[in-house]
Amino acid sequence: MNDTMTLMQRADALDQRMSDELDYIVIKSRLYSLADADFGPTPNAAAIMAQNPNARVLMGDDPRLPEMPDQPTLADFFKYRFGPAAHLLQSARHAVKGGLPEKMVLACLLHDIATIGFIRGDHGYWGAQLVEPYVDEEVTWAIRAHQVLRFYADESVGYEYPQSYVKTFGADYRVDPYIEEDYKRMRDHKWYMSGRMITVHDIYSFDPTVHVELEEFTDIIGRNFRQPKEGLGFDNSPVAHMWRAMIRPAKYL
Ligand SMILES: [Fe+2]
Ligand SMILES: [Fe+2]
Repeated sequence: MNDTMTLMQRADALDQRMSDELDYIVIKSRLYSLADADFGPTPNAAAIMAQNPNARVLMGDDPRLPEMPDQPTLADFFKYRFGPAAHLLQSARHAVKGGLPEKMVLACLLHDIATIGFIRGDHGYWGAQLVEPYVDEEVTWAIRAHQVLRFYADESVGYEYPQSYVKTFGADYRVDPYIEEDYKRMRDHKWYMSGRMITVHDIYSFDPTVHVELEEFTDIIGRNFRQPKEGLGFDNSPVAHMWRAMIRPAKYL
């Protein structure tokens, strides 16, 4: 039995416990199980409730997750929702050492937040969208561009196609056509080098002995991330629902 199985079983056991003890039914989003080999019919809340009439689907906070403040900040998401952020913190420190301007340090700090908090596929596009209302346009552009540019070498700054990609995707991997198309558009853009800088400071093999705290970047976040006073998720921005999805990822409706 591998670790993943153990984790999944633990999660299932938790779901079961919630159903049994806490009278909560967890119905995972279709996206979660869409590609599972044994994907069957969507679990039916009514059928589960027939066995436990007291049970309710999750419409409020998820008791399995840490409570979030009412007006959550970016730092709160790092603290209570995002997965391990060592890669982002190390990339941001690397960017500081490389003398990048503050807003680009922020871009490095945030470039993979979709991966650690939301969704993996097309993470550069998702991540850029998540922060778009709160950062300089160039930061959004650069985060979106890193999705694409990391697949293309740029000798002028010593960036090579990552060896780790050869290993992870296979030597014969070729990017999707929409990535190729975006690359052609981005290559000649005035902010090309900003997107490129994220790839340069993207630490592909992070050092487990280096420990960086988010607090190192508190001032940079304060000056470059327009934290909404209502809290992320509650500011009526076009992306508020995406932040709310991270606050309550198993919300039934
Ligand atoms: Fe990335
Ligand atoms: Fe990265």
